[in-house]
Amino acid sequence: MGRHAIVTGSSRGIGKAIALRLAYDGYDVTINDVLANKAGAEETAEEIRKLGRKSTVALADVSKFAEVEQMIQTAVKELGNLDTMVANAGIAQVKALLDLTEEDFQRMFSVNVFGVNNCYKAAAQQIIKQGTASAEHPAKLIGAASIVAFKPFALLSHYSASKWAVRGLTQAYAMEMAEHHITVNAYAPGIVGTAMWDLIDEELGKKQGAQKGETIEKYSRELIALGRTSVPEDVAKLVSFLGSPDSDYVTGQTQVVDGGIIFT
Ligand SMILES: NC(=O)c1ccc[n+]([C@@H]2O[C@H](COP(=O)([O-])OP(=O)(O)OC[C@H]3O[C@@H](n4cnc5c(N)ncnc54)[C@H](O)[C@@H]3O)[C@@H](O)[C@H]2O)c1
Repeated sequence: MGRHAIVTGSSRGIGKAIALRLAYDGYDVTINDVLANKAGAEETAEEIRKLGRKSTVALADVSKFAEVEQMIQTAVKELGNLDTMVANAGIAQVKALLDLTEEDFQRMFSVNVFGVNNCYKAAAQQIIKQGTASAEHPAKLIGAASIVAFKPFALLSHYSASKWAVRGLTQAYAMEMAEHHITVNAYAPGIVGTAMWDLIDEELGKKQGAQKGETIEKYSRELIALGRTSVPEDVAKLVSFLGSPDSDYVTGQTQVVDGGIIFT
């Protein structure tokens, strides 16, 4: 099929599961992460090659537009025309609103909002330049939102606001990219057992006097209709749909995949 996707923040966690699933679906995949996670990125790429697809690593900090442009250039040089961008990279922080510093707020938005915008914008520019997207074969921009894009979690307020921004940006891009035959959608996971939730569990636990592992277990039991913590593959299955021709008539949506916490 020869389709090419870039997945940011794919050295581990949800991004890695998405990269592997897209490879399974027939995509060649560029793996991105920050320099500190280079080893994990190389491992993901190697696992994709074992699935019989092409893969390359393009390290970049998604909060910097010039680095994102360079990442796309490297990706296209190695694996050919770009069809799908998954702007997955994100960070979280647990802190009370009144304790948040300007730097906390700036850092959160620079990765989670500017990062997604940088990836959407640079990918759209590349896809338009290629001239490969058509009404019959639209290209795809896909971003990482969260259930907190619909209802914030206390102590995760600036994280929640950043994900609301991803949801808004996704709707705005869907409107402006339609004429270029590019669909734009986001995925909204709930409570997924990754390094990110290890951090949230630990920090919420400290504030609420709970032991490590107790908070995620309590939230999963009390909040999730299906009664289990999510795994990255749950999210990858939805992104597989959003990256496939089956979603060609879907745009501007932020699709929840949370086992039944939020009902939209
Ligand atoms: N884990 C959850 O429960 C959950 C729920 C909802 C949404 N999400 C979102 O899903 C995405 C993936 O989350 P995860 O749980 O796999 O997190 P994770 O921390 O396990 O992985 C995130 C990856 O992104 C990378 N990254 C961070 N900043 C980056 C930057 N500036 N440039 C490039 N890469 C960068 C990290 O190095 C890491 O490898 C995030 O956007 C997150 O906000 C996660």
